Amino acid sequence: MGAQDGGAQDRGAEDGGTEDGGTEDGGAPQRPRHFAAFRPGQVPAEADGRLHSPSFARNADPILKVLASQCAGLRGRALELASGTGQHVCHFAAALPGLAFTPSDPDPVHRASIDAWRARLGVPVAPARDLDAAGDWPAAVADIAPLALVLAINLLHIAPWRVTEGLVLGAARALAPGGILFIYGPFRQGGRHTGPGNAAFDAGLRAENPEWGLRDIEAVAAAAQAAGLTGPDVVIMPADNRSLVFRRPASG
Ligand SMILES: C[S@@+](CC[C@H](N)C(=O)[O-])C[C@H]1O[C@@H](n2cnc3c(N)ncnc32)[C@H](O)[C@@H]1O
Repeated sequence: MGAQDGGAQDRGAEDGGTEDGGTEDGGAPQRPRHFAAFRPGQVPAEADGRLHSPSFARNADPILKVLASQCAGLRGRALELASGTGQHVCHFAAALPGLAFTPSDPDPVHRASIDAWRARLGVPVAPARDLDAAGDWPAAVADIAPLALVLAINLLHIAPWRVTEGLVLGAARALAPGGILFIYGPFRQGGRHTGPGNAAFDAGLRAENPEWGLRDIEAVAAAAQAAGLTGPDVVIMPADNRSLVFRRPASG
């Protein structure tokens, strides 16, 4: 599962999913094939609550490289939605001192992991907040707005479409003029999957939850543009992923 070249097995790890979700007939408890929640026993866990994302070691530096390039010169507050284990936000905060990061996740086990990683690494990251990307999250971050950066990694394919809408609408409200919405994950592009493993991955997601599935970059772009954002710059990433970079117009 360590390869960078995509495929269904890589996808299973990339989104926190598992390929060993119990058996139909073996008596083992049924677990979803793709789970939006990391749990001890399904991913490596430490006694202090830190969880290890299966894909962090592989995607953190490629994402950071693009983020650093896109955010060159950007200073201010950064909000991550769907922070998961918290490893990414701690990694980015250590490398991008001009940005003050606040992580968030609706899952309390994830928030405990985020806060345990913050404590362990001693990085300048604020406490994790309980934010739903589909909800009125800009109101909950009014105290740190306007934001220079909003970040969402591996969220849109494993959440309903209303999460995409909430993300772009909220970003358009919460970002400062010139601020960036950075989205990373697997997408369809030009009406096609971007790699051979993604079709099966997408089918598996949709079979498990009809509201999940890889989003079309064009649909995300249309929603973001309707909300008032410009872009995206689309950056091809390892394992057939994409980074999408939207901006709030400097005069908007
Ligand atoms: C596949 S994990 C990705 C976590 C992390 N960003 C990473 O890449 O390791 C999906 C994350 O989305 C979060 N999530 C699910 N629904 C959400 C929502 N409506 N708003 C914000 N986060 C959500 C889950 O709790 C989980 O942490």
